[in-house]
Amino acid sequence: MIIAKSRAEVKRYTEGETVGFVPTMGALHEGHGTLVTASKDDGNYTVVCIFINPSQFNNPSDFENYPINLEDDIAYLDSLGCDLVFIPKVYEVYRSGDDEGRYIHHFGSLETRFEGEFRPGHFRGVAQVVHILFEIVEPAMAYFGEKDIQQLAVVRALSSKLGGKIAIVGIETKREKSGLAMSSRNLRLTSDQLQKATLIHQCLTMAQSGFKSKSVVSIKEEVRLKFEADAEWNLEYFEVIDPQTFDPITVWAGPCRAVVAAHLGEIRLIDNIAIP
Ligand code: PAF
Repeated sequence: MIIAKSRAEVKRYTEGETVGFVPTMGALHEGHGTLVTASKDDGNYTVVCIFINPSQFNNPSDFENYPINLEDDIAYLDSLGCDLVFIPKVYEVYRSGDDEGRYIHHFGSLETRFEGEFRPGHFRGVAQVVHILFEIVEPAMAYFGEKDIQQLAVVRALSSKLGGKIAIVGIETKREKSGLAMSSRNLRLTSDQLQKATLIHQCLTMAQSGFKSKSVVSIKEEVRLKFEADAEWNLEYFEVIDPQTFDPITVWAGPCRAVVAAHLGEIRLIDNIAIP
């Protein structure tokens, strides 16, 4: 596996290849592994980027405490058959002027609701770095996890704004046996919190099985009470949405998604589930 630190190295090694791209912020887990494996299975020369993107953090302490596990990440990617890992410094990704102009995108209500409301500027930073990385890596396909379902929608919108040449592939969320969605942030949970964190998936499955028979109002009330029962939780949102528009919906009329975000102590967790 090639370890590249500069744009020039990435260009050199990917020349003439059909690239499958997996952008990450490192602290890799099996969820990332499924993205890499999907890219390999699609026959791509697989490039993973590890870059903790400062422009997408609205909370400085979240950025400072973001877990870093570079040696393990490299060994894990090698074991998966990744072809190239790009580990750039900030100056290698961002050039002066990148904070304005063509890397700044707007996505209407998609960027201001749910994650956008609670993390102002987050999707602007995600779209900015993904656009820059797409220009460096020039992938044919790019892989993103469905755990960040709104990010996936933003990246799909970005790709079509850029001409739709890059196929965006969404990969199903990988879960622990407990149902907890795998996330780099789980590394910061204590064993007691890991136990408590299963509440998120319990609420999602409750909504999934109950949505056709119960009202959204009653499901949301049930969820709110469950989170309020433990002072360590702070529920930001729990909603059932149209997966295309992200508009909240009240009555089942076809496939939709339940989405949730909550703080468990210092750690912010998000998840979602399809309601077929
Ligand atoms: O999902 C992530 O890890 C990040 O938001 C991404 C897509 C790598 C952009 O920094």
